[in-house]
Amino acid sequence: MKAWLHSFPDLPDTVASPADLARLELESALPGTPCTLEHVPAMGESYRVEKTAAGYTVSGGDSGLLYGAYALITRILSGESVPPVLASAPKYGLRMVDCWDNPDGTIERGYSGRSLFFEGNRLVYDPARMRELGRLLASVGLNVLCINNVNVHFPGQLLLEDMLPEAAALADIFRPFGIRLMFSIDFSQPMRHGIPTADPLDSAVQAWWKETAARVWTAIPDLAGFLVKADSEGRPGPFTYNRNHAEGANMLAEAVKPYGGIIVWRCFVYNCRQDWRDRTVDRPKAAFEHYAWLDGQFADNVILQIKHGPFDFQVREPVSPLLLAMKHTNLAMELQLAQEYTGHQIDLYTMIPMWRELFAEMPADNIMSIAAVSNLGRDANYTGHPLAAVNLFTYGLLAWDPDTDAEASVSRWARLTYDFTPEQHRCLVSLLLSTRRTYEKYTAPLGIGWMVNPHDHYGPNPSGYEYDLWGTYHKADRNAVGIDRTASGTGYLEQYSADLQEKYGDPATCPDLYLLFYHRLPYSFVMKDGRTLIQRIYDDHFEGLEETKALAEAIAALPFPEPDRAEIFRRMELQLRDAREWCDIINTFFHRLSGVPDTHGRVIYD
Ligand code: GCU
Repeated sequence: MKAWLHSFPDLPDTVASPADLARLELESALPGTPCTLEHVPAMGESYRVEKTAAGYTVSGGDSGLLYGAYALITRILSGESVPPVLASAPKYGLRMVDCWDNPDGTIERGYSGRSLFFEGNRLVYDPARMRELGRLLASVGLNVLCINNVNVHFPGQLLLEDMLPEAAALADIFRPFGIRLMFSIDFSQPMRHGIPTADPLDSAVQAWWKETAARVWTAIPDLAGFLVKADSEGRPGPFTYNRNHAEGANMLAEAVKPYGGIIVWRCFVYNCRQDWRDRTVDRPKAAFEHYAWLDGQFADNVILQIKHGPFDFQVREPVSPLLLAMKHTNLAMELQLAQEYTGHQIDLYTMIPMWRELFAEMPADNIMSIAAVSNLGRDANYTGHPLAAVNLFTYGLLAWDPDTDAEASVSRWARLTYDFTPEQHRCLVSLLLSTRRTYEKYTAPLGIGWMVNPHDHYGPNPSGYEYDLWGTYHKADRNAVGIDRTASGTGYLEQYSADLQEKYGDPATCPDLYLLFYHRLPYSFVMKDGRTLIQRIYDDHFEGLEETKALAEAIAALPFPEPDRAEIFRRMELQLRDAREWCDIINTFFHRLSGVPDTHGRVIYD
C-alpha cells in the first residue's frame, strides 16, 4: 500500500524537472487522454487546466504544471467531474511539513515506525521511497519538508556539517516534486566551533552563521531555510544573553538572506518549570507575552510559527491570541498531524473538521504560511494507521486553499484510496468526519485538555500533570473544575479583541465546548440545554464510548483490502479499550470528587 496513490507505477530514478514529472504522471495515470503542457514561468505555482476537444491543456509555472497535473489526475481517478476550466493558485507560499525525526532513527512523537530519513546517526534513506513520498506530498501541493526534529541535539547538528552531501542528494530527489528541504538548527551551534558564546549580537557568532549559510546554500542552493526552536523546553536561545527573539531571529535572517533563505522561528515559549502552587502564571498567556510586543520588529525573511492554540495541540483549544495579534509580522500557523494528544494514530481522529473550525475563528489572511508536524514514518503505509493518511492528504489541500471543504476532501481521499461501492464510500466518509467529536467526548471534558498519561500522552490520567511543572492544571476539587481565564481570573482572555472577550467571558454565552478552558464552574452549573455540568461530563463520556463501539462495528463491515484491514482492526480493538478506560476513569474521577450520581443510573465505578 502506498497511501492514496497506491496504484501508481514506480517513478524512474531521475526526473529532470516538475514539468517532466507532470508529463510522466499524466501519461501513466491517464493513458489515452491527450494532455498538452504549456509552461508559463510567470504563473509560478499556480495552474490552469482546460478541457479541449481532444483532452486537456495544463498550463502553469515550474511546479504549477505539476500541481495542475495532480489536480486533474486526482479528480479523474476519484470520479469527480472536471470543470471546463480548473484554475487555482495556492493561498500560502510555504506549505510545510515538519518532521520531528532524530538522527538515531527515532521520531519524537512518531507513531508510524522509524524515520524515513535517518538511521544510526547518519542521513540514510531509500531513494525509491523518497520519490514516492515526493509524489504524495506534491500531489496535494505541499512544498517544504523539514527533515529533522526541532529539538536539535548533537549529532543532529551535523546536518549543517558532514551530513551535507547526503542532504544535498536528498534535495536533488525532491526538487522535481517542487519540494524544498528545510533544516532545524540549534541556536547555540557556533559554540561547537570554538566560539565561546551564541549571543546574536556577537560579531564572531554573526560571522559563523554567515559562513555556515554560504556553505549550506552552496550545497543546496534552493534550501528553504532554517527552523528554530529557541528558549523553549530547554533549548538554547537569545534569552541567555538578555537578547529578545527579534534580535535572535534577525541575526539568522541576515545570514540566510543573500540566498533567499527564510528563518522560521517557533513561538512555543513558556515556563516549563512552573510551580503548581504559583497561581500568578498561566501557561496559555506565555506566547502572546513573549512576542506580541515585538510586532513589526522582525526582518522580512523571518516567519513566526505559532501553534494553533495557546497550549499544545489539545483536542479543543481556542485560536492562539498571538495569531490574531501580530499584524505587522509574517506568521505561520502550526498544526500537528502526528496524533500526540489525539490517539497516537491508534484512535481514529480526522482533523479537517477541527481545522475548519480554526479558520472560522481566524481570518485566513492573518497568516502567510502554514506548517504541520508530520505523521509520517517508515511503516509501509507511511502513517501507521492506514486511515491516518487522510490527515496528511487533507492538510495539503487545506494548506493550498483554507476554504477546502472537509467532506469533499475526505471523500476525495477515500475514493483515491479504496475501491468501495457508493454506499460503503458514504459510510466511510461520514465515519471519518465523526471521529473528532467522538474522541473529544471520551477524553478530557469541555476544553479543559490534558488529563493524559504524562510524557507519552496516550490514555487517561486525570491528575497526571496536576502537580507537575508544565503549567497544565485543571484544579478540580469537590465543588468545581476549570480555570477562570477572564479578567477576574488569570486575565488570559484580555489578549483577545473586545468582541471575543465578550463572547467567551460570560459562561452564559461561551460555547459549551470551551467552557472549562475559560471558566471555573461548580458541578451544579446549569448549561444552555438545562443539564448540569457534571451530568454533561458523564453524558459525553458514555456517549463517546457508545459512539466508539458503533464506529468499530461500522468499520468492521467495510471491505478494506489487506494489509489495511488487519491493521485497522487491530488498532480499533486498542481504541475501544482506550475509549473505555477514558470513559470510566474520567467519570469515576468526577464522581468521587463531586459525589453527584448519574441521573440515568449508569455504571460509574467507585
Ligand atoms: C510538545 C511535545 C514535545 C515537542 C514540543 C514542541 O510539547 O510534547 O515533544 O518537543 O511540543 O512543539 O516543540
